[in-house]
Amino acid sequence: MKKIIVTIDGWSSCGKSTLARQLAKALHYRYIDSGAMYRAITLFFLRNRVDWTKDDEVNEALKNIELEFCPNENSGDTEIYLNGENVEYLIRDLIIAEKVSEVATIGAVRLFAVDQQRKMGKKKGIVMDGRDIGTVVFPDAELKIFMTADNAVRVERRFRELFAKNPNITIEEVKNNLEMRDYIDSHREISPLRQADDAIVLDNSNITPEQQLALALDWVKQKIQ
Ligand code: DC
Repeated sequence: MKKIIVTIDGWSSCGKSTLARQLAKALHYRYIDSGAMYRAITLFFLRNRVDWTKDDEVNEALKNIELEFCPNENSGDTEIYLNGENVEYLIRDLIIAEKVSEVATIGAVRLFAVDQQRKMGKKKGIVMDGRDIGTVVFPDAELKIFMTADNAVRVERRFRELFAKNPNITIEEVKNNLEMRDYIDSHREISPLRQADDAIVLDNSNITPEQQLALALDWVKQKIQ
């Protein structure tokens, strides 16, 4: 059967990765979480005290970063490795979330990530989620989905996720972080978050994960036929 590229872009915490995982599983495609790449780069910068306002420090640091996605043997989910270390869990921390949007505005960082993302899509059969996947990384993708959800719903979802790991976290912190990231992601100079002209909008504020999967599978079917 014909393999296609599915891109899923949208605001922070509107369920992009849930849908991307579901779709990849149902279609036997590869799932790539492009946000995890920017998060892992941020983790490397923080650990190595890289001053990302300085071009030479950024360029030097990027030479020492190797990112890889490998399946978890138990869950089957794809997880990210930074220089051979599984950092899938570490990069979800609020400390990373507070800095990642800033790091993702850097031109050299984006070039580094986009180049790898395009290579991963060469053979198609891939679902990739992020902010610029349908607009910049794969402008010719067969199916582009732009996801959105009510702000309150998004804050609640991310709060529940983070609270499970850190009971000291407050809903205010989560709300402020989401608002800040949405603003930076959609206002940055290079590859800002925007809806591709040919993207299908999916608002999942009031639908279940099962319903959103059914919708997306239907769109895939239409593109494959
Ligand atoms: O999807 P996420 O929340 O894990 O993404 C983390 C950050 O990375 C997000 O605030 C913006 C940035 N990002 C980006 O600039 N481009 C992408 N394709 C994916 C993520």
